[in-house]
Amino acid sequence: MDGMQTAEQDIATRAAKISARGVQVWYGQNHALRDVDIDIPERAVTAFIGPSGCGKSTFLRCLNRMNDTVATARIEGRILLDGEDIYDARVDPVQLRARVGMVFQKPNPFPKSIYDNVAYGPRIHGMTRTRAELDQVVETALRKAALWNEVKDRLDAPGTGLSGGQQQRLCIARAIATAPEVLLMDEPCSALDPIATAQVEELIDELRDQFSVVIVTHSMQQAARVSQKTAFFHLGNLVEYDSTTRIFTNPKDPRTESYITGRIG
Ligand SMILES: Nc1ncnc2c1ncn2[C@@H]1O[C@H](COP(=O)(O)OP(=O)(O)OP(=O)(O)O)[C@@H](O)[C@H]1O
Ligand SMILES: [Mg+2]
Repeated sequence: MDGMQTAEQDIATRAAKISARGVQVWYGQNHALRDVDIDIPERAVTAFIGPSGCGKSTFLRCLNRMNDTVATARIEGRILLDGEDIYDARVDPVQLRARVGMVFQKPNPFPKSIYDNVAYGPRIHGMTRTRAELDQVVETALRKAALWNEVKDRLDAPGTGLSGGQQQRLCIARAIATAPEVLLMDEPCSALDPIATAQVEELIDELRDQFSVVIVTHSMQQAARVSQKTAFFHLGNLVEYDSTTRIFTNPKDPRTESYITGRIG
């Protein structure tokens, strides 16, 4: 048995970080997500794949209540983080999003300096006491996001002045600066060149030592490279969820097989 399969077996026995049960989402009359059940393991990378419009981003946004901000969205079902319902009235969505961070497809740096973008979360959550501590948190996050060397001499320059790929790595640095337990990434590499993509994939691999990572991707190669579990969505249904090796070598559902071999999409 190779190392990858051993790692996947190990993950199969691990506690769920996030459990979703019977999750449904409507946007007005549009039933976008149907009855999704899934257990997302801790300290592993889970990939969401499937054709455009199948509900990947919708489900990802359920996991840190980003859909709360969409006026027409209605959600049913339960989503538990460490066994606690994230939709409970006592949960503060802002606190939740520090634990469940998100990186979007389109880089969205704040209109602030590079430094202040990364320091934003640590500041609002009071994570550091001194400027020196904050400097350290900012540097560490930028190093992990493979951006430090490119920006260390211009931390006061605006984040929006960076290239698209650099902006995305800045957004990743901003998301990991609060040390989230779960990191949600919606097609994080679609604006990146192959070098930056490789750096982000390396980062994802490092993050899974400590965190749960969920990544939406249209690249099967990327899903196969970075994830240990893969979920295939189709027309609002979670069709199949299994170890990444199994999904890509021996899927059970013909729809999964068609998608990974390029016949639907
Ligand atoms: N903010 C929104 N308001 C209304 N409908 C939406 C919204 N976001 C998504 N939808 C609808 O929900 C369905 C699922 O969309 P979603 O964005 O989750 O798909 P996706 O799998 O992420 O697709 P893609 O691969 O193109 O990003 C689609 O029918 C889409 O039109
Ligand atoms: Mg999407």
